[in-house]
Amino acid sequence: MLASSLVFLALAFCLTVAQNLSIPSTWRDPTTSLSLSERVSIAQNCIDTLTGVLNTSTGSFSGLGYWQDANVISAMANLDYFTFSRTNQQAVTDSLNATFSLYTDYDQYGCYNDDAMWWATAAYYGYRAYGDINLLSHAIETWQHVSNYVITASDASSGKQPNKDFLIEGSCEGETMVGGVFWRPTSDDTSVNSITTGLYVALSAYLASATGNITYNNAAILSANFIKTTNMNSGGLVLDSIDAQDCTRSPSDWLFTYNSGKYIEGLSVLASVTGNSSWTSLLVDIVAVATKATAWEGSNGIITEGADITEDNDGVGFKAVLMRGLAEAWSRNIGNTTLRTLIQSYIDVQFNALLDLASTSDSGSMWYSPAWEGPGPTSFIAWGQLAAVDVLVSAVRINS
Ligand SMILES: *[C@@H]1O[C@H](CO)[C@@H](O)[C@H](O)[C@H]1NC(C)=O
Ligand SMILES: *[C@@H]1O[C@H](CO)[C@@H](O)[C@H](O)[C@H]1NC(C)=O
Ligand SMILES: *[C@@H]1O[C@H](CO)[C@@H](O)[C@H](O)[C@H]1NC(C)=O
Ligand SMILES: *[C@@H]1O[C@H](CO)[C@@H](O)[C@H](O)[C@H]1NC(C)=O
Ligand SMILES: *[C@@H]1O[C@H](CO)[C@@H](O)[C@H](O)[C@H]1NC(C)=O
Ligand SMILES: *[C@@H]1O[C@H](CO)[C@@H](O)[C@H](O)[C@H]1NC(C)=O
Repeated sequence: MLASSLVFLALAFCLTVAQNLSIPSTWRDPTTSLSLSERVSIAQNCIDTLTGVLNTSTGSFSGLGYWQDANVISAMANLDYFTFSRTNQQAVTDSLNATFSLYTDYDQYGCYNDDAMWWATAAYYGYRAYGDINLLSHAIETWQHVSNYVITASDASSGKQPNKDFLIEGSCEGETMVGGVFWRPTSDDTSVNSITTGLYVALSAYLASATGNITYNNAAILSANFIKTTNMNSGGLVLDSIDAQDCTRSPSDWLFTYNSGKYIEGLSVLASVTGNSSWTSLLVDIVAVATKATAWEGSNGIITEGADITEDNDGVGFKAVLMRGLAEAWSRNIGNTTLRTLIQSYIDVQFNALLDLASTSDSGSMWYSPAWEGPGPTSFIAWGQLAAVDVLVSAVRINS
């Protein structure tokens, strides 16, 4: 009785927050007057600064980490996809090929499922942009590998996951663990996290759309359901991680842009491939709160997360993932003008902040700071370019 009243209150709260798709009047400059060709050249200029530090025989960008490398490759493929171009095809394909042959299933150290999934997703974007079936097969092989670390219904009921050497909880606080994906393949690592699961939702849904194979639909639905029921807070944002052995959660203030962003992307694709509008309602709810989350922005709307200018770290790469997820939601919800205007405004706030406050022009190239409120950097910062590139590529898409 008590439990169900609490659930009811949580849902009611979610719905109240979720309905509001209006644009706060306090947001800084939510529109752009730049033409399509100007925006394309701004995005490609940023990509060119990064390919300047790319070694295509290892797929690595000097100054970035392994998962971040995959995110630059993703943005490069997506710009070509959005503009029907092949400008970046050679660098994208060479890097994906090199990385796949260097590291089995794209897992560089043999110990991070999310690393493997970032690269497999980049391979999928490459396939989407260029129709290269070889890249699709990289994505599928990696998906099959990571599928060994998903909690199935029978794992949950037996309390045993075949690739883990400890007993697991089938549910936590009364909510199912089925569909959760382990962060690491290591047999004694107990963490199930939203980014690995969200990547798995999105890639499964993309593979469903590419192949029509129902296995991917079912996988996407199961894992999307896990995040929905078990790893979101009452305000409608995606939480970070949960321990499958003892149900311990990450701190409630571990609210990161990429967890909600990757889930928004996955739900957008899942809604299209299933035609089930309950996923659309959920993604609209999350977009409404993620674009206004005080956890990562002030009243001007500019994202302040991951603003470290002194050294690269994982956090500086998160906000780009939210931008990419929002752009996918924009692309797949053509009927919902209110939703699309909110997404467009939010991305343009970041776009204008980068151009007006956080950039420095250097003989034809633009350098971007990872601190989007500025000032512009005094030298090239590779991770500043990484953080910016998805904003610039998304601004091509959502203003067209
Ligand atoms: C909806 O959001 C707008 C902009 O942030 C705000 O001004 C308005 O009060 C909100 N409306 C409701 C019903 O909360
Ligand atoms: C690229 O990486 C390969 C393999 O590690 C290395 O042999 C080569 O020297 C690198 N190229 C550049 C330009 O750094
Ligand atoms: C990538 O690798 C595949 C398989 O080895 C090969 O068929 C393809 O030609 C390669 N693509 C490029 C652009 O090198
Ligand atoms: C569907 O996808 C699964 C997972 O990759 C694979 O095992 C199966 O062979 C595929 N089925 C068909 C008919 O291609
Ligand atoms: C749509 O998805 C929801 C949420 O998972 C589910 O409860 C419902 O049964 C689905 N509807 C159909 C027609 O499959
Ligand atoms: C757009 O999303 C909002 C919020 O969920 C919803 O109220 C509205 O009906 C949607 N509009 C369309 C045309 O789908």
